[in-house]
Amino acid sequence: MKNIVVLTGAGMSAQSGISTFRDSGGLWENYPVQQVASIEGWHSNPELMLVFYNQRRTALKEAQPNKGHRILAALEQHFLVRIITQNIDDLHERAGSTHILHLHGELTKAQSSKDSGRITHIGYDPIEWGDKAADGSQLRPHVVWFGEPVPNMTKAIQWTQEADIMIVAGTSLAVYPAAGLVDFAQDNIPLFLVDPKPAPVRKNNLYVIKEKAVEGLEKTQKILIENYL
Ligand code: APR
Repeated sequence: MKNIVVLTGAGMSAQSGISTFRDSGGLWENYPVQQVASIEGWHSNPELMLVFYNQRRTALKEAQPNKGHRILAALEQHFLVRIITQNIDDLHERAGSTHILHLHGELTKAQSSKDSGRITHIGYDPIEWGDKAADGSQLRPHVVWFGEPVPNMTKAIQWTQEADIMIVAGTSLAVYPAAGLVDFAQDNIPLFLVDPKPAPVRKNNLYVIKEKAVEGLEKTQKILIENYL
């Protein structure tokens, strides 16, 4: 089986009704990113951030995987598909994908605010001020905020270097180190870039599919089945 690595971003879940960050009307237009997505923000106003992520967790509970998520899961019939996602939602899991690496954390988990390795599963429940981790510290969302390290990058680079085919779907490639993964893909492997407003990518064997995730992955699936089995 050929090995496909998929890098996904917020655009992957847009057709499931979840906002992206940098599009018009996106989250960062409505919320001051430093106050709700940075470690400084957590130190200065943790209750504001708990409310922000509780609202996102409630929205996630109402959302469903879209056909794009399901196509990536279905591709596992013919390929080894490994998904590296910047998304903190659980829609790839709910769609049935089996190899998923979250770079920026997961909304359905909480962690100690003293020890990032102390992680608990909370599903769609809220985290309230005063909720304690086993080490007695305040519980916080298991999300990687600006200014924090990205522990899963080493494995993500390995997955990318081992891939025969790469798909990049629904990401502005604006945030590093995630955006740098494209450069770790072997030179001449086919790279499918699925996005209605694709970011500039310099790769030899590039397929730019200027479509939304569902329509773009339908096209990608067709090309893969016809040419890369
Ligand atoms: N289908 C596919 N792509 C879409 C769709 C759609 N329906 N709608 C929008 N897009 C594209 C946009 O054109 C854009 O390129 O999705 C991308 C969304 O970009 P961002 O909002 O910047 O999201 P992302 O790339 O995931 O952001 C990276 O930044 O804020 C941090 O931690 C956060 O993980 C996030 C990281």
